[in-house]
Amino acid sequence: MGEVAIGIDLGTSGLKALALTPQGQRVAEASASYPLLTPKPGWTEQNPSDWLEAARQALSQLAQQLQQQGLRPVSLGLSGQMHGAVFLDAKGQVVRPAPLWNDQRTTQACAEIEARVPRAELIQRTGNPAVTGFQLPKLIWLRQAEPASFARTAQVLLPKDYLAYALTGQMATEPSDASGVGALHLASQRWDSDLLAALDLKPSLFPPILPSHGVVGHLRADWAQATGLPLGLPVVAGAGDNAGAAIGLGLSSQRPGLGSVSLGTSGVIFLPALAPIPDPQGRVHLFCHADGGYHYLGVTLAAAGSLQWYRDRLAPGVSFDVLLAEAQAVPPGSEGVVFMPYLAGERSPYLDPALRGAWLGLSLAHGRGHLTRALLEGVALSLREVLEVMRPLAPIERLLAIGGGARSDFWLSILGSVLALPLARTPIEEGPARGAAILGLVGAGVYPSLADALEATAPPSLEVELEAVNTRPLQERFQRGLYAVRAFKESP
Ligand code: XUL
Repeated sequence: MGEVAIGIDLGTSGLKALALTPQGQRVAEASASYPLLTPKPGWTEQNPSDWLEAARQALSQLAQQLQQQGLRPVSLGLSGQMHGAVFLDAKGQVVRPAPLWNDQRTTQACAEIEARVPRAELIQRTGNPAVTGFQLPKLIWLRQAEPASFARTAQVLLPKDYLAYALTGQMATEPSDASGVGALHLASQRWDSDLLAALDLKPSLFPPILPSHGVVGHLRADWAQATGLPLGLPVVAGAGDNAGAAIGLGLSSQRPGLGSVSLGTSGVIFLPALAPIPDPQGRVHLFCHADGGYHYLGVTLAAAGSLQWYRDRLAPGVSFDVLLAEAQAVPPGSEGVVFMPYLAGERSPYLDPALRGAWLGLSLAHGRGHLTRALLEGVALSLREVLEVMRPLAPIERLLAIGGGARSDFWLSILGSVLALPLARTPIEEGPARGAAILGLVGAGVYPSLADALEATAPPSLEVELEAVNTRPLQERFQRGLYAVRAFKESP
């Protein structure tokens, strides 16, 4: 019977499960969705029980597909949305709905953390300043805003680790997701007990840390019965969604210089690194990778999301192809028009939810093509700002371009020219669940090491011949854009 590993991505809009052969071929896939709760402005939450229901549905479907094909699962690896907080009482019951990675309720809690642990020290120890979305400020918020819930809380788990707990009865985490809590000592990859003491938090709130390919536990009888998966199936710790996606693309800290740039709703630059050297100002994230090393992560919140918003609100009914063709007829630099993509505030490098977007430099001579081209250039320039922060920290030689926006040769040539880096495409579109399954292959012993698994499953990368775009007009815009950012902060 052919062996496969199952990988799960517990995302923000739904859960995806897939099965991968040891050679990295996807043979089955199933998904189920759940609601996003927004009980107050700036709050985003989910009910952990909804994740479990989605997992039951998707895994049952997947188990059926595997049975029909005569395939035998050897392990189940997890990945998912980072930073969320599942608060559990002493019996392992959920205390309240889980605030998520994009929740903004913790501004005051972040200020409290940085008042107790100086920002520069926090960055040196954990790789990041206090970031509103991270898990640690959520605990501080709970203590202050809902003291009764805090008093009941015996453990706090990350979303995918809660799913592992439900599947196996065992609580654990792994370095890639744990480093997004905000309390992991990056160099030792252990919970930072000094930091927790400064915040009057007990280290026992957090679960033990396994390697990302480590086995958390084995599938319980109730889950085996509900899904049709084998009783005792090893459940592997896995990775946060960004590290999971990178493992799926074959990006390893053992091969520094090769990273990825994603033009999805948000734009993300992922860069593996051997050593944990943070940006002293914490302008890009530094997390543990799932292979024992580290990685930088820079996020432009509205990338292809800017283009989607623009089409939907300002050019409804016009196809993306038409908009892109109009933009292509405009010279590089958009004849002076600059777009600032801060429609949702900004993560890297500003870490400022109050930043706002704009087009600048408009005249009567400009038309829709200029607005579109400026938007594409503005997103590329914003990613260049992220890259500039990373450049002194780690080698950067080549980026795999992924996400919906990367399908456009035109946008990709603007991006490649602005970043001044060779870009390559890859046929892999499976996202974090693929990396979770690869970690599962290692956890099940199909491969002796992650390096072996990565070699066997590495996707082909397709070099793209991109038209060189004259970036000189863009360089000037870039400088002007930097000044404009300071002027465009929304007044409090
Ligand atoms: C990473 C981040 C997101 C979440 C959601 O820092 O906030 O990528 O992991 O998927």
